[in-house]
Amino acid sequence: MSFIVAIDGPAGTGKGTITKLLSKEMGLVNIDTGATYRCVALYIIQNNIKLEEKERIIAALPNIHIDMKIEDGEQTIFLNGEDVTKEIRSKEVTQIVSQVSSIKEVRFAMVEVQRNLANGKDVIMEGRDITTYVFPNADVKIYLDADEKERAQRRYKEMQEKGIDMSYEEVLKNIQIRDKNDKEKEIGALKIAEDAIYVDTTVLNIEEVKDKVKQIIEEKRVIRK
Ligand code: DC
Repeated sequence: MSFIVAIDGPAGTGKGTITKLLSKEMGLVNIDTGATYRCVALYIIQNNIKLEEKERIIAALPNIHIDMKIEDGEQTIFLNGEDVTKEIRSKEVTQIVSQVSSIKEVRFAMVEVQRNLANGKDVIMEGRDITTYVFPNADVKIYLDADEKERAQRRYKEMQEKGIDMSYEEVLKNIQIRDKNDKEKEIGALKIAEDAIYVDTTVLNIEEVKDKVKQIIEEKRVIRK
């Protein structure tokens, strides 16, 4: 039987970083749900299907086979047998993936893929709808949150470190728009599951958040054993 840790929350709460760290520390497989949507985006680019051609995108879904494997400690993503780990991070894919992921039929198909990838494994997954929709019966359900100004501050610092020129006000505005989109999405909207453990990370650093989340997982794992 598998053990499932599901983490949701808005942008800038450290979900991605914490999931990667804990996956290594706790021996849990990290299923990258965003990568599944990125594979669909790459497939439609490779097959000259346009974003507007929704029917063609939906018709292509049965031809899209996605697999993930850990090779030398790193996750490798396969699209129809081909290693696309790098290609799915390209600018072209990034530009269209959000729209691709908002197509209802694409979401239904990818949630199936995500569930199959997790089948029989001990996994940790993060996103927006993992605790509410992908795995509503997960063994551990956590909602990470933080004040929007603090999240914007974190993203702003990240941007500066990467040399990306954006003002704090612009970053804050982006966060506010993204939060609104995430919460109002027709399917897979971000919300706090009734039985999720709510963790406010506003005054915590990444190490402190990681320790807190790890403790929650360990407690549940002990109960399960
Ligand atoms: O995390 P990422 O940037 O690789 O995600 C790619 C896109 O997929 C992004 O637009 C958000 C979307 N996504 C989603 O709708 N549901 C998920 N569970 C994960 C990602």
